Amino acid sequence: MSRKLHIKTYGCQMNVYDSGRMADVLAPLGFEPVDAPDDADMVILNTCHIREKAEEKVFSDLGRLEKLRRTREGMILAVAGCVAQAEGAEIMRRAPYVDIVLGPQTYHRLPEMVARAARARGRGVLDTEFPAEPKFDSLPDESRAPGVSAFLSIQEGCDKFCTFCVVPYTRGAEYSRPAASIATEARRLVAGGARELVLLGQNVNAYRGESPNGGSWGLGRLLLALAELPGIERLRYTTSHPRDVDDELIQAHAECPAVMPFLHLPVQSGSDRILEAMNRRHGVDAYLRVIDRFRTARGDMAFSSDFIVGFPGETEADFRATLDLVERIGYASAFSFCYSPRPGTPAAGMGNAVPSEVSRRRLHELQTVLEAGQREFNRSMVGRTLPVLFERPGRHPGQILGRSPYLQGVHAAGAKASIGGVLPVRIVDATLNSLAGEIGAAACAA
Ligand code: SAH
Ligand code: SF4
Ligand code: F3S
Repeated sequence: MSRKLHIKTYGCQMNVYDSGRMADVLAPLGFEPVDAPDDADMVILNTCHIREKAEEKVFSDLGRLEKLRRTREGMILAVAGCVAQAEGAEIMRRAPYVDIVLGPQTYHRLPEMVARAARARGRGVLDTEFPAEPKFDSLPDESRAPGVSAFLSIQEGCDKFCTFCVVPYTRGAEYSRPAASIATEARRLVAGGARELVLLGQNVNAYRGESPNGGSWGLGRLLLALAELPGIERLRYTTSHPRDVDDELIQAHAECPAVMPFLHLPVQSGSDRILEAMNRRHGVDAYLRVIDRFRTARGDMAFSSDFIVGFPGETEADFRATLDLVERIGYASAFSFCYSPRPGTPAAGMGNAVPSEVSRRRLHELQTVLEAGQREFNRSMVGRTLPVLFERPGRHPGQILGRSPYLQGVHAAGAKASIGGVLPVRIVDATLNSLAGEIGAAACAA
């Protein structure tokens, strides 16, 4: 029996990956993914709890879906992900029409939950355990065709407990998948057409997984092993923590051409005082040293980061220190946010709140500086020839879209047959968010 499944994904790449795995788990039950909820037999909201706004969106979407559920006999409504983990009981109370609430660690049990929900119509099923058996062991071998660039979760959870962050509570303790299981999934993705793998983890460079001979590998060693797989053109990983960068990882960038010269390395703030209050467990100097080590190993490394402004007690001087750090490093791109107090985190009880209009002004100022940096970085590519991995057709006929080593979107006139290949592209124009180029036969210089 064919049934329609709509999954709406909020939040980070890990949730995007998880949504794919949920679709895989439900496929044997006859569920086929559809783009809209309107005629779906099952709707899953895969939620994010990182900031208040993300959580509010879930409850407003649920209100709309309740109406739909009333008109659709037998429709199953499920809430998954980090809001489900953190607020499972609250969801059941505020939205009693929700059939299933499941956390990020239990989605391999979805088929069983669907059966229970059908039997218990009207009484929700809640499963937000952190089961002893890792879910990765019971995911199906079959999956839908990946894109040219595919996500692969290798590590999950976080033991860092930054004082602002919900992730250690919603995703649980750090867990690393064994290298053999990662390699199996990598081979399957490559066989399906993937040429780039983006290894995912909330603390991906804290990876320490079982190696094929029963020892243990860090991320650097894992990258070298995956680079050996035929068909792999590019490897990336996200998100890294400055504290967990080791020589082996830096070496992987120096030695292995498949490992891209681009790294997302969030710093959050440029003030030592704020970094300490955030429990980031490193200062500005240590961060700068890490960046230097990467640049020494590979001269063409570029970086991106996340920033939080308006953390409790942040003074104008602290904020200026963040702007200084941004100028010193010269990021290729970055994400920045106003601090959002999250229930149950230590920072939420700190007092000393920064008024919201001050946070908003600081965010605007920071984003102006970050955007100028990004524009400059993109402009510095004009006239250069970059290797571009083409991923899909563009919006205009005859155009194809791909990515530079630095994750910049690049469009060029080219044949669809070039999708999936890395071609040298001479960059002729640059805007804030993309590059335009001409595919050429010239040798690539990344
Ligand atoms: N594991 C990653 C980030 C996970 S969350 C790391 O260690 O950096 C992604 C980003 O959301 C964070 O880097 C941070 O900038 C932002 N963030 C997390 N909690 C936040 C909060 N309470 N308010 C505002 N931004 C937050
Ligand atoms: Fe959150 Fe900090 Fe862990 Fe990143 S390292 S997930 S910001 S607690
Ligand atoms: Fe959000 Fe959970 Fe990812 S809180 S950012 S979906 S780990």
